[in-house]
Amino acid sequence: MKVIAFNGSPRRGGNTEILLVEAIRGVKDNGHDVTTYNLDSLNLRACLNCGKCDGEGLCVVKDDMQMINQEIRGADRIIVSSPIFFFTVSAQTKIMIDRCQAFWAEKYVHKKPVPPGTFGRKGLLLLVGGMKQNEKNVGFQCAEATVRAFFRTVNVQEHVTLTFAAVDKKGAIKDHPTALSEAYEAGTRLVT
Ligand SMILES: Cc1cc2nc3c(=O)[nH]c(=O)nc-3n(C[C@H](O)[C@H](O)[C@H](O)COP(=O)(O)O)c2cc1C
Repeated sequence: MKVIAFNGSPRRGGNTEILLVEAIRGVKDNGHDVTTYNLDSLNLRACLNCGKCDGEGLCVVKDDMQMINQEIRGADRIIVSSPIFFFTVSAQTKIMIDRCQAFWAEKYVHKKPVPPGTFGRKGLLLLVGGMKQNEKNVGFQCAEATVRAFFRTVNVQEHVTLTFAAVDKKGAIKDHPTALSEAYEAGTRLVT
């Protein structure tokens, strides 16, 4: 299976990446390679809403998104890991997602959804936030809605979401009683 992962945190070695590494370990221990993209290191411009993808089904902005587009297209499993920034995913994550408007046009305008592949495309979403969540968990709900829209747009037909609140200091996720084992298990389940 082709498995790709997006690290949406600009803080390298931080909580988002630590969680992601554990999920990837779960995938690799089951015999699959994972290609990771650190979104903060890529050259990705925000969507211009130029409307060109409505006409041609292709994004005309030339940057690393052409490569990411191909990677998503060929992926059987997609992992997204993001910190909560201002009650949703990080800007790095959101820029990549917005650029998937070309996939949206392909699916909903041209009625040609990207094929789900031999194994049925599946996803995993890992979210970590510093705040003790209020009763409505607004940050996680907003991020979940955004990533769900991304996943369905690129024909990830089902996904699992793990959320971890009150994890703020760099590396604090390591002190969480279950987070790392939950991420590892989720990685395992993603490919088995
Ligand atoms: C710009 C910014 C905005 C943030 N907004 C929120 C927020 O709305 N809700 C929350 O729970 N945590 C918020 N945080 C805290 C981060 O989600 C938290 O520190 C997280 O552990 C960072 O993950 P990282 O170590 O991978 O960078 C914010 C942090 C930053 C830098």
